[in-house]
Amino acid sequence: MAKVTIKGAENGPLIVEVDGKRVSALCRCGKTENKPNCDGTHAKIGFKADSSEIKVTE
Ligand code: FES
Repeated sequence: MAKVTIKGAENGPLIVEVDGKRVSALCRCGKTENKPNCDGTHAKIGFKADSSEIKVTE
């Protein structure tokens, strides 16, 4: 079974990894012009969030 992890980058997007490889960066600031993907806008608007990590499967 694939190992799926979702990491909340500090002040940035949710990074989705499958078997250690980054497959997506999902916006969590709500201001991207390319939903649901992060387009870097979080840095321009000063989005603040703690880092976090969720292991979906191991
Ligand atoms: S988290 Fe990067 S644009 Fe929203």
